[in-house]
Amino acid sequence: MGDRVTISVIKADVGGLVGHTIVHPRLLERCHEHLAGTDLLVDYHVTAVGDDINLILTHRHGTDSSEIHQLAWETFEAATEEAKALKLYGAGQDLLADAFSGNIKGMGPGIAEMEIEERGREPFIVFMAYKTEPGAWNLPLYKMFADPFNTAGLVIDPNMHDGFIFEVHDLQEAKKVRFSCPEDIYDMLVFIGAPARYVIHSVYRKDGDDAGDIAAQASTQRLSLIAGRYVGKDDPVMIVRCQSGLPAVGEAVEAFAFPHLVGGWMRGSHNGPLMPVGRADATPTRFDGPPRVMALGFQLAHGKLVGPQDMFADVSFDPAREEANRIAGYLRRMGPFEPHRLPLDEMEYTTLPQVVERLRDRFEPIED
Ligand code: F6R
Ligand code: MG
Repeated sequence: MGDRVTISVIKADVGGLVGHTIVHPRLLERCHEHLAGTDLLVDYHVTAVGDDINLILTHRHGTDSSEIHQLAWETFEAATEEAKALKLYGAGQDLLADAFSGNIKGMGPGIAEMEIEERGREPFIVFMAYKTEPGAWNLPLYKMFADPFNTAGLVIDPNMHDGFIFEVHDLQEAKKVRFSCPEDIYDMLVFIGAPARYVIHSVYRKDGDDAGDIAAQASTQRLSLIAGRYVGKDDPVMIVRCQSGLPAVGEAVEAFAFPHLVGGWMRGSHNGPLMPVGRADATPTRFDGPPRVMALGFQLAHGKLVGPQDMFADVSFDPAREEANRIAGYLRRMGPFEPHRLPLDEMEYTTLPQVVERLRDRFEPIED
């Protein structure tokens, strides 16, 4: 008899203190109280990055369970009540619908979930990014599962040597495609190198007894595409299983030792370095950022969450933080100029088009 368990990571911004900086502790308490009162879950952990609340849930109801999604929705509603009472900034901001209707996808909160057969030992890491978009995972996921300069196991471990399957989503056309790596690496890079449109949605094992097993799952919702206007950045989450034929824990986090540039930051309109931080530093302030990523590691024991370990709190990530801060300073000096500011097509869902509209009448034809 197997031990099937579902890990659901569901996040939302339902109010910030001060402005968009952190989640008020009272909101996190309300989430605890709400989740403690249900018998739907095996276990849960509540955390936050910036002003986003992240619910890490384990249960036996599979992915896309309306009961679990409703539980998360109602937990965010309870936190919203608190945010309204405290007059926090943007109270209820990510709850785009008036009432829950079946599946939380498309209703504002971000979600990554996977149903797995719990292995004898089941280490996994939940990555939570802030002030950026789902495509921010493309480069680190590529490194973890396709780049032997990052992941030694791709060369050394016979259980990884055949590579992995990547599922990539085109967020504009709502289409998906699978790439088998390493054979398809060059083809895949054509698309995932454009992370505002193409995002890695999931990664699967390729060969052996465990072929087809899910290895990584990211959230791919884009709030602006859901709402048709700027409604905050999408601040994606992702779950990565580790060890025994999958990237080692150290190979998974190694992918963040290089603070690559991601879209987001101030007003969702700027490129900036993704800085790996521990929980204590998941409190972006400078220019509402810079963007950051937190990683909590757990092991499962019959669905119970053992942990977490705050992966990026380690001093070995100090150089990545220093580099990120240096890059942030350099980019800030560009002010409103690209490539610090995002390219115009990416500004479509911000408030910039309203300003452009006001100036439209001042333009005249060039007649020479
Ligand atoms: C970006 C973000 C913030 C706000 C900025 C302005 O994702 O949430 O950078 O865009 O603080 O916020 P408003 O328009 O609410 O004053
Ligand atoms: Mg937010």
